[in-house]
Amino acid sequence: MAQNEIIRMDAVDFIYSPRSPFENRVLNQCCLSVTEGEIHGILGGTGAGKTTLAQLIGGLLKPTAGTMTVSLSHRPGGIGIGYVFQYPEHQLFAETVYEDISYGMKEMGLSADEIRQRVEWVCSFLELKSSYMTRSPFSLSGGETRKVALAGVLVLKPEILILDEPTVGLDPRSRSDFAAHLLNIHREERFTMIIVTHDLDLVSLFSRVSLINEGRLVFTGTPDGLFRDSDLLHLVHLKRPLYLDIAHLTGVLPSGLSQVRDKRAVLDLLASKLGGRGAGA
Ligand SMILES: Nc1ncnc2c1ncn2[C@@H]1O[C@H](COP(=O)(O)OP(=O)(O)OP(=O)(O)O)[C@@H](O)[C@H]1O
Ligand SMILES: [Mg+2]
Repeated sequence: MAQNEIIRMDAVDFIYSPRSPFENRVLNQCCLSVTEGEIHGILGGTGAGKTTLAQLIGGLLKPTAGTMTVSLSHRPGGIGIGYVFQYPEHQLFAETVYEDISYGMKEMGLSADEIRQRVEWVCSFLELKSSYMTRSPFSLSGGETRKVALAGVLVLKPEILILDEPTVGLDPRSRSDFAAHLLNIHREERFTMIIVTHDLDLVSLFSRVSLINEGRLVFTGTPDGLFRDSDLLHLVHLKRPLYLDIAHLTGVLPSGLSQVRDKRAVLDLLASKLGGRGAGA
C-alpha cells in the first residue's frame, strides 16, 4: 500500500451465489485506492453494484477474485470500520433510542461515564433532541431514523465511516442539514468517509468520487473532473446539477468545486452575486 492509502482494491470481482443456478456476477475487475481522511463518493445507477462495493470495503463481503486491503491503525477507544446501512431501520433494535445509540459502546467495554459523554456529544452534533432518547427507535420518522443509526456508529469513533445512501427519503432542507452535519463530523474527527449515493447535491462534499457502471469502476477523480466529462455523464445517465451550471455561468466558482464544500455554500455565493440574502437551504 502507498503511504496514507487506507483502502486498496486490486482487480476485484464479486459474484453472488457462484457456481449455482443463481450465480450473479456483479463486480468486474474493480480497482480503487482511497487515501486516509478523504471523503470518497461512490456514484452509479440503480443496481450498478454500489452497495456490493461498499460491503466489500466494509468487510461484510469477500471478493470472489482479486485483493482487497484495508489498513487500519486500531486506535484505542475506537473501531476500525463503521457502516450505516442503506435501510437504517434494519440496524436499530433496542427499546429506546438511548439504548440503541449506546449498545455498541457497551460492547466495546466503555465506562458508563464515557458512554454518557459520547451520547451527549453526538446528540449536540446531529441536533438530536434529548426528548428522543426515551422513545422507541421504531416510532421515528425516516430522517430521524437515519440520524439515530448514524449516531450509533459515530459514537464508536470509526477510522472509516461507510454511509450507504444517507440522504434517501429526506426532504431538501433535511438533506442540506445532513450534508452540513457530515462536513462538521469530518472537520472534527477526520474519519475517512465512503459515501454511496444517488444524490448529486452531495458531490461537493467529496474529495474524490468513483463512478460505477454495470459492475465496472469507470471513473475515479475529482467531482470537477467528473462534471467536465459530459460523455461519461451521458453514459451513466447523470446530469450536472442545475445550481452548478448556474454557478459556472455566473462565474462564482472560478476554481471549481474545490473552492466550496457543500451545496449551501454554492447557493450562498450565488445569492450574494445576484444581490439576495443567503440561500440557507
Ligand atoms: N444477495 C444477493 N444475491 C444475488 N444478487 C444480488 C444480491 N444483492 C444484490 N444483488 C444484485 O447485485 C446487483 C448489484 O446490487 P447492489 O445492491 O450492489 O446495487 P446498488 O448499486 O447498490 O443498487 P441500488 O441503487 O438499488 O441501491 C443487482 O443486480 C442486485 O440485484
Ligand atoms: Mg444500494
